[in-house]
Amino acid sequence: MAKHAIGIDIGGTGIKAAVADVKSGKLLSDRLRVETPKGGKPKDVAQAVLELVKQLDNGQNLEVGICFPAVVQHGITKSAANISSEWIDLDAQSLFARKLRRHVHVINDADAAGVAEVKFGAAKKQRGLTIMTTLGTGIGTALLYDGTLVPNAELGHLEIDGVDYESKAAFSAKERENLSWQEWAKRLQKYYSRLEALLIPDLIIVGGGVSKQHEEFLPLLNLKTKIVPAMSRNSAGILGAAALAYKNRRD
Ligand code: BGC
Repeated sequence: MAKHAIGIDIGGTGIKAAVADVKSGKLLSDRLRVETPKGGKPKDVAQAVLELVKQLDNGQNLEVGICFPAVVQHGITKSAANISSEWIDLDAQSLFARKLRRHVHVINDADAAGVAEVKFGAAKKQRGLTIMTTLGTGIGTALLYDGTLVPNAELGHLEIDGVDYESKAAFSAKERENLSWQEWAKRLQKYYSRLEALLIPDLIIVGGGVSKQHEEFLPLLNLKTKIVPAMSRNSAGILGAAALAYKNRRD
């Protein structure tokens, strides 16, 4: 039986979606992208997701996995850092299931990316503690111990110098403040040094769109822990969400 599922990655600025082969980790369709509806409200986001699924599904009724930039506990979205506050304490899993008329699996975006790196990428067969980080609108983090996910680590919000450090070190801060790679790397140095001092990881992975340009900033960092770019770059969320949807499917 073909192991295909749709993965959807909802972000503060865009929603990306594709059909993935959850065995090989390859995308089987184009990667579609639409802008996140203004305000990021649940009703509008669910409608945008429905339209993407219609384009990708071709009547196959594929499993759908959705990853989301918030804490997701048993299908309930519990926070909303870069998206409408209407998501807080919302049963997102039921909302999407009703809209798409099928069972869906909803998970935090960094957790989905971490799962993808364990299955297909830089954390494959990695022992001990891996910290997956995604540098985008915010900073997403996932903890993986011997390949097992410990969900909802919200370490992008570490307080450093009295501020929520995602506001300083996310890729959006580089863009907003027009920082050079060197200036941004100084902030990343502070962030990753704190992370490694607190958690003593064996491996740190850097994902998010900007990880395509890892040669510009990873060599500027000086850490005790090995730090590598994500292998599945910008598709990690899609792949992880699809893989988890398939794994948790209801036959
Ligand atoms: C959110 C996390 C999310 C990350 C990346 C943070 O602001 O709190 O839940 O994983 O952004 O989107």
